[in-house]
Amino acid sequence: MSIAAIRVGSPAGLDNLVASTLPDPGQPGPGEIRVKLQASSLNFHDFAVVMGMIPAEAGRIPMSDGAGVVEAVGEGVTQFKVGDTVTSIFFPDWIDGAPPATAFTRVPGDGIDGYAREAVVTPEHWFTRVPTGYSAAEAATLTCAGLTAWRALFVDGAVKPGSTVLIQGSGGVSVFALQFAKAAGARVIATSSSDAKLERLKALGADELINYKTTPEWGAKALELTGGVGVDTVVEIGGSGTLDQSMVATRVGGHVALIGVLAGFAGPVQTALLMAKNLRVQGLTVGSRNQQLDMIAGIEANGIRPIISDHFPLAKLGEAFKHQAANAHFGKIVVDI
Ligand SMILES: NC(=O)c1ccc[n+]([C@@H]2O[C@H](COP(=O)([O-])OP(=O)(O)OC[C@H]3O[C@@H](n4cnc5c(N)ncnc54)[C@H](OP(=O)(O)O)[C@@H]3O)[C@@H](O)[C@H]2O)c1
Repeated sequence: MSIAAIRVGSPAGLDNLVASTLPDPGQPGPGEIRVKLQASSLNFHDFAVVMGMIPAEAGRIPMSDGAGVVEAVGEGVTQFKVGDTVTSIFFPDWIDGAPPATAFTRVPGDGIDGYAREAVVTPEHWFTRVPTGYSAAEAATLTCAGLTAWRALFVDGAVKPGSTVLIQGSGGVSVFALQFAKAAGARVIATSSSDAKLERLKALGADELINYKTTPEWGAKALELTGGVGVDTVVEIGGSGTLDQSMVATRVGGHVALIGVLAGFAGPVQTALLMAKNLRVQGLTVGSRNQQLDMIAGIEANGIRPIISDHFPLAKLGEAFKHQAANAHFGKIVVDI
């Protein structure tokens, strides 16, 4: 018996993803579950792995996000039963509290094999339950993008009713941040390179819209939209190329959740502005298993459903990444397995 999988080719690249087979993972041992994987979702992190920007072991099975149905449970499993829909966690070695120093080395789809495959046997704590009524496709959007947005706003940030949040663009993390911020009663300033996407963000509840291409000084515009005060939290997915504008946009004592690298990996920082505005710029990497469970409770309490703009079959994973690279998506791209 074998199962289908996709591997990163050598050299890496979107046209060099290799369809392959793996031995069937078999039955779960004590404390393990066997999951029939039904969906994954694309993140920039996965794109970086399949492009070779993040060096991974030859033949790595990509994709950090995986959701599906429990097919079998091993002895002593307490959290799941056969038939449960489950979704993966980003850091199998980070359950709660502060991240352990070793947590970041075993990310599925990067440090270890990920979920671009039909089935997996893992310790039960590598998965969590999903929000009630969620399909596997919906659940597969939560592992990376959903939890990152949640942590930025509610774990590292202190977003509450009346807060103002600025989101950058209309990708996976940013659309979740919009949905979560609105559910918390916050005001959201949304930016995008596309007026059409801005209208879609408005339909999801964005209060103010800025096209960051036609308004390159969007930080000043955000300041103006807040009466010169500035926003409480920026969901910074650009990185070095957008940080200056983000700091301009943020209120004195505000928070920049430093998440992404879409506008650069390194660059000069206006340290005087950082100091003068008493800003807190906090880097973050996704979150812990318990934070994922908190997010799931928050999603259920507010009836939030992820925004999925596109579905691709697993065999067309390269096409899915090309769609992402072209910024043709809005919210999440799902891969059906
Ligand atoms: N640190 C972490 O734990 C963590 C977790 C998840 C993601 N990330 C990072 O966060 C970033 C976004 O990830 P994602 O999965 O949400 O990506 P994604 O779904 O591919 O989002 C891409 C969108 O970002 C917007 N964008 C691109 N360049 C931009 C720029 N210079 N300024 C403002 N917006 C820009 C575009 O929106 P428009 O088309 O609307 O302009 C684009 O469609 C990536 O760098 C990723 O590595 C980090």
